[in-house]
Amino acid sequence: MVILGLSAFVHDSAACLVIDGRLVANVEEERLDRIKHTRSFPVSAIEYVLKQGKVRLADVDVIAYNWNPYKSAVAEAIKMVLAPVIYYKVMKHARPPKNLRSIAASLRLLSTIKRLYPGQFKGRVVFVNHHLAHAASSYYLAPFNREPADILVADGHGEDCSTSVFSVRDNRFELKWKAPIWNSLGVLYTTFTNFLGFENYQEGKTMALASYGTDSFQEAFRRIIELKANGQYAISNQKYLGLWYYSETGLGREFGPQRKREEPLEQRHFDIAFSMQNRIKEAILHMVRHAPTVSGHENLCLSGGLFLNCDINREILQSSSYAKVFVPPFPSDSGGAAGAALYAAFACCGETPAESPSFSPYQGPAYGAGEIAACLERRGQTYRSVAEPWQEAARALAEDKIIGWFQGRMESGPRALGNRSILASPLQPGVSEYLNAEVKKREYFRPFAPVATREAALKYFELQEPLSELTRYMLVTTKVKPEYRATLPGISHVDGTARIQIVSLESNAELYRLLLDFEKLTGHAVLINTSFNLQEPIVCSPDDALNCFAKAPLDLLFLGNFLVGR
Ligand SMILES: [Fe+2]
Repeated sequence: MVILGLSAFVHDSAACLVIDGRLVANVEEERLDRIKHTRSFPVSAIEYVLKQGKVRLADVDVIAYNWNPYKSAVAEAIKMVLAPVIYYKVMKHARPPKNLRSIAASLRLLSTIKRLYPGQFKGRVVFVNHHLAHAASSYYLAPFNREPADILVADGHGEDCSTSVFSVRDNRFELKWKAPIWNSLGVLYTTFTNFLGFENYQEGKTMALASYGTDSFQEAFRRIIELKANGQYAISNQKYLGLWYYSETGLGREFGPQRKREEPLEQRHFDIAFSMQNRIKEAILHMVRHAPTVSGHENLCLSGGLFLNCDINREILQSSSYAKVFVPPFPSDSGGAAGAALYAAFACCGETPAESPSFSPYQGPAYGAGEIAACLERRGQTYRSVAEPWQEAARALAEDKIIGWFQGRMESGPRALGNRSILASPLQPGVSEYLNAEVKKREYFRPFAPVATREAALKYFELQEPLSELTRYMLVTTKVKPEYRATLPGISHVDGTARIQIVSLESNAELYRLLLDFEKLTGHAVLINTSFNLQEPIVCSPDDALNCFAKAPLDLLFLGNFLVGR
């Protein structure tokens, strides 16, 4: 069966193709239309995944959509009837701007498809509950997707909930409990991200700030998030939730004035970030510790935007009783299309998604040598061919040059995993400050992530075998061993942590070879890996890469087997 997964109309639109239970292509629309977190109907993403799967829309049996607008409409109606005044305020102040427009657009999904692709689609549309799509995106891509597992989903919100705990066995997802929207940990995180002077989708900045903080607001956040004896939690005062009723005066009394974007950061801001993140972490750990005492399961899947937080993930790995923990490379809504399609494979078509011993995150477009050469020629770019780009790249990096690295199929998810990356040597003091200020043009406090071979990772970082799957997708922090922090200044954050990615010959041959060649020259198989973009979606095509190269002070650009210099 051919299943087209879609997310659209809210944010992070994407398309995914699953054929006979196997995920064959996935791409976020933002990479193609170049609008960050776009909510557009994913026309380009659909075109790509169908082409990659060598099928036409007429061949698609099911379109699976990662939101149930009927359920959402009922939830909205209930809120409107129960609390019309508060609902009005919510609509005025809502962050993120969830509204009836996205519900209406979702309800018109089939007619949109018929209008855009007249006479083509003959299958049926299935609306998958948002948190079920999240759950499936984690469980079916986990290496243990034939075994029972618990699944924790935590995000901004789904149709009528913000946190869900599922138990899955024999492909049956059983909802154990869910927290209502007004108990959203994700919205709480976003509210305080806004309070600290950042915008929606900039929660990563709050995560970076937290590393500079102390727990001086511990009492305030303990009052906000209450942990219950039954393994659940509640947010005690909904004035903290932007979604429900955002009140600056309420926040200001306990946390001081809201920071404006250009105002300097003070210790108070770092401490708010630390205490808020710490209390959310405690709430997550509370759930994660309780769930297996009820289910007896040994495997845990996590999904939802909160699990982009590498610090929370590290605590779960360290202190839960689960034997195996998995987070997909796209736990946020950019994985919604994949989750909807994987869920529908079994639920609608009776096909168990393929076993996934080692899911590859590289599910996006690739560009052949002919396409890259044609692009270079069309733009009049000077270039030359290189037989083994990793050798030349390693030499440049050992000379402290900064390179653009564009290889193979683009990675899915918000983290650049080495196919659309900017790479630099982590050995030189001051390199992270230079990258922040001059290359990425972003705040001084944001750290850079290391990519390493397995051997180097075990040598330099406080990691133990067996290595977590999360280290493959840059989804967990680890500590740099104290004796190597001075050796690797470019990737040691202020608190000694690093958001590690480990590559192997099997997972990413080009990057693995580059690391080995860099090691031959410097003695260290570790590099800085940051996303190939400048305040825009990660580059996808050779044109995008050349556009970014023209703006950013990179020394060299490797496009497959072609090298572009200055
Ligand atoms: Fe979500």
